[in-house]
Amino acid sequence: MSAPLSADTETFAPPAPPRPGSLSDLATYRRLHAESLANPDKFWPEQIAEFHWFKQPDHAFTGKGPEARWFPGGRANLAFNALDRHILAGRGDTLALIWESEAVAADRQPREVRRYTYTQLRDEVVRLASALSALGVQSGDRVTIYLPIVPELPIAMLACAWLGAAHNVVFAGFPSQALLDRIEDSGSHVVITADGGWRNGKVVPLKPILDEALNRTALVRHVVVLRHTGSPIELRAGRDHLWSELVASGDPAHPPAQVPSGHPSFLMYTSGSTGKPKGIAHGTAGYLVHTGLTARHAFDLHPGDVVWCTADPAWITGHTYTVYGPLLAGATTVIYEGILSSPDWDRAWDIIARHRPQVLYTTPTLVRAWIRHGETGLRQRDLSSLRLLASVGEPIGPSVWRWFREVVGAGRTPVVDTWWQTEAGAAMIFPFPYATPAKPGSASLPFFGVQPALVGADGREVVGAGSGQLVIKSPWPGMLLGIWNNPQRYRATYWETIPGFFLTGDTARRDADGYFWVLGRADDVIKVNGHRLGTAEIEGAIVAHASVAESAVVGVPDEQVGEAVLAFVVLKSGYEADDTTRAAIVREIETQVGKLARPREIRFLESLPKNRSGKILRRLLREYAITGKVSGDVSTLDDSTALPPAAPSA
Ligand code: PRX
Repeated sequence: MSAPLSADTETFAPPAPPRPGSLSDLATYRRLHAESLANPDKFWPEQIAEFHWFKQPDHAFTGKGPEARWFPGGRANLAFNALDRHILAGRGDTLALIWESEAVAADRQPREVRRYTYTQLRDEVVRLASALSALGVQSGDRVTIYLPIVPELPIAMLACAWLGAAHNVVFAGFPSQALLDRIEDSGSHVVITADGGWRNGKVVPLKPILDEALNRTALVRHVVVLRHTGSPIELRAGRDHLWSELVASGDPAHPPAQVPSGHPSFLMYTSGSTGKPKGIAHGTAGYLVHTGLTARHAFDLHPGDVVWCTADPAWITGHTYTVYGPLLAGATTVIYEGILSSPDWDRAWDIIARHRPQVLYTTPTLVRAWIRHGETGLRQRDLSSLRLLASVGEPIGPSVWRWFREVVGAGRTPVVDTWWQTEAGAAMIFPFPYATPAKPGSASLPFFGVQPALVGADGREVVGAGSGQLVIKSPWPGMLLGIWNNPQRYRATYWETIPGFFLTGDTARRDADGYFWVLGRADDVIKVNGHRLGTAEIEGAIVAHASVAESAVVGVPDEQVGEAVLAFVVLKSGYEADDTTRAAIVREIETQVGKLARPREIRFLESLPKNRSGKILRRLLREYAITGKVSGDVSTLDDSTALPPAAPSA
């Protein structure tokens, strides 16, 4: 190892790699990282050689800032790399995917387990791709996918990638308004859905919700419907097709699209600090390389390894590390249909004991839930397959980090805290498990090609130890192509606040060893259960209710979900500040934004604290919500009676 690390915090030495070939010392990591930034055209060709290129790229990247494009001149296919590459290498019989149903029998065994080898998965993918092509789907189109967590969800994603159509997966918990917004903004003519899904033992209807959305748009020409729960649905002749019938006539020899590197591979809608969710568009080759390489470097995934990423494939973590990352690595991905408290909180330990993953990738919110529910069940299961644990989505506090390593990992596994975001495509800052000494609570050091920096309140870059806004200084492989349909918003949101640098929206600290400690969001985004929610979106839904004059939403720390939504509401005269009004407002939020955004509490105020130019003082509201009082400079407050001195219950 190179220079010893400062002793400002507890440090865990990385264990020896279980296999030869893994990066195993910090000095080599630092050298490679420096090389990746200094000489990308020399560094990347070697790194990308393992992937299948219909045409090799001419360069690592061209252009700067929002115009940067990775691997120009190249042609590739994401699904071909995730499937055929392994089959061509003789690994067609390796398991690609193991899925288990939420429903269990009395002996806790799942009612259904489905397994697909690489060959079997490819067959399903290409048949569906051919069927979609027969419905008119072409390279460059967008296809919205609104499916529960079933094997057909990754199959549908891969089938789109096969054709060069961008998939737009919409979380199956979203209401029809959110679904409609995403179908329309993406311009999808085809939607893939199911009759319904299972969640917490109940059927969640999907096709009926899609029907509601489709009553309000003429954009969609074809709907593919998977039969999963058997619940009643209506099929509209000419528009709606059963998955099983389409796929039966699909051609398993349909060729893959040889798309250029910068071709859009998927859209993922995410909340920002203003307005409606934005469609983050990702390209093909940069995403493929960043995802494929981090699957190996962050999680040590090799062909035949088993990984369980607890993220729903509908979110970016699930896209990248439940679906593409494991498959690009030739590993087996474990996918679980339901919620992890079904039938009780020992479900995760059952899944690990049953499918024996070497890698478990999850969120601090889930680890905290496991801590709360006790260790008895965990200690009764065989978790000895686990070799590496990893975390994402929110800061993992040092005590939670230690519990995860000591109790779930029996003190032997590295814990890889990965920092990244929807826009990043794949993991950006994380410790190399066998090379980087880990500091609990720090995501540590950047991946190859990633150049994070901090910018202080004075707008200047922070040199050495310090804190500030986390920015990315140069293009990285998995970087977004932009915001779908909105190049202006793309530039304004990410590139213009600190000209030339990509603004992540997070604040962070860097210590004397160069380790990054991500502190949280700097903008009006709340992280509930690891999901991003924009305060503006929730406020928009609240003021849509007839009783509401004004509203402001803030995020407050919450042991269970990380951050909880707290809504302050000013009613129009004539409306009662009572539970009936509260319930009506909650319903409005659920129908427009979804259940994820349900507030922990709604508080009625006579007015909102504003400055003299009418801007709502969220800092005061947040402080008031947490402590019951406001401190600091309140001289800008227009109406000092806005916040009554009553002690809040939060
Ligand atoms: O605030 C950061 C937090 O999650 C945000 C990104 O959210 P999303 O786009 O939904 O993607 C989540 C999974 C990649 C970031 O801006 N975040 C993510 N990982 C970490 C984190 N905060 C602290 N530590 C992390 N490891």
